[in-house]
Amino acid sequence: MAEQADRLIVDLVAGARPNFMKLAPVHRALKLRPELETRIIHTGQHYDHGMTGVFFEELRIPEPAVHLGVGSGSHGAQTARILESYEAHLLSAPPSAIVVFGDVNSTIACALAAVKLGIPVVHVEAGLRSFDRTMPEEINRILTDSIAELLLVSEHSGLDNLRNEGIADSRVRLVGNVMIDTLVEELARVDDAVLARHGLEPGEYGLVTMHRPSNVDDPRTLRGMVEVLVEIGRSLPLVFPIHPRTRRALDASGLAGLLHAGDGVRCLDPIPYRENLALMRGAKVVLTDSGGMQEETTHLGVPCLTLRENTERPVTTTIGTSRLVGSDPEAILTAFRDVAEGRWPAGERVPLWDGHAAERVAREIAEWLARR
Ligand code: UD1
Repeated sequence: MAEQADRLIVDLVAGARPNFMKLAPVHRALKLRPELETRIIHTGQHYDHGMTGVFFEELRIPEPAVHLGVGSGSHGAQTARILESYEAHLLSAPPSAIVVFGDVNSTIACALAAVKLGIPVVHVEAGLRSFDRTMPEEINRILTDSIAELLLVSEHSGLDNLRNEGIADSRVRLVGNVMIDTLVEELARVDDAVLARHGLEPGEYGLVTMHRPSNVDDPRTLRGMVEVLVEIGRSLPLVFPIHPRTRRALDASGLAGLLHAGDGVRCLDPIPYRENLALMRGAKVVLTDSGGMQEETTHLGVPCLTLRENTERPVTTTIGTSRLVGSDPEAILTAFRDVAEGRWPAGERVPLWDGHAAERVAREIAEWLARR
């Protein structure tokens, strides 16, 4: 095993926006373990300041030890570039283990590079399944779980999914949701003036985010989404921070004009973590295809129309505040009316989404490394 001054080295890998809020609390918790040395690896899958740098600053994540700088590309090209450059790093400075988060291309690419060199992999947010293999993330989840040695699960469904795939229980632990640790920590730091700066009153606006290929890449689907947002915007002002993929799709399809013509929809560039948290907390309703925001709205008790046909996070719909509405404008409008007229469950807190998941993650990793 790789050691530095008698300490075991653990690489924490992140690359895309949803990774950073998961890495932050795990990094802090691992730093408290004197026997471990952590190294942050940034693949560069996301590279705009608004998609990455701002989260490092806000969430007080130190500068990465290594930045692979891979950038955008097709799935094959991006995954291959990460694989090749992370392998070179692993060969020159092998850690004792690596930790990967979530389901983005950086997750599978780095897990694969490590496992081929005999370096064990820990997967945080293991076991989630949408059962929709047209989603790139579903492929990343299945493959990462099949090669990771320690699988740390955020909600109960993950235990069943991994068992059904024949993964031994001894590799699996239910630890809770590290992203909720960040939410709990950062709520106290939210600037109460955010809503006023946007000219919004609590409970009197909706927040929209949308970036999944299934919603934005096909101009016909995108048109339906834009039209329904404009329609909802007539009765409830909407704030819409726009992901770069969506911005590109709106510009290429000529639908940006339609969106701007409805003055009920306020378009913004991607926003920092705490600003998003403030807008989510104060919203009457959130419309999103983000997996993370399904979980965050459940924790906050805010109604969430999930703009997807399926979810890998079923607890957000069974005991949480989320309902799957897909991309059908009629279904979205019906659900919106249910929220507007008060027909929406208040939801319950999810077990182990308690702000202490990263402590459990750090303990499991330390004990597992000590046993190996
Ligand atoms: C990726 C993840 C997705 C996650 C999302 C969060 C995969 C397969 N997908 O999707 O699971 O929910 O991140 O944001 O890993 N771009 C920029 N600046 C950036 C990054 C991207 O302009 O900093 C543009 C580029 O045109 C790029 C496009 O956005 O081609 C898509 O980026 P990419 O990382 O390929 O996928 P996301 O859609 O961001």
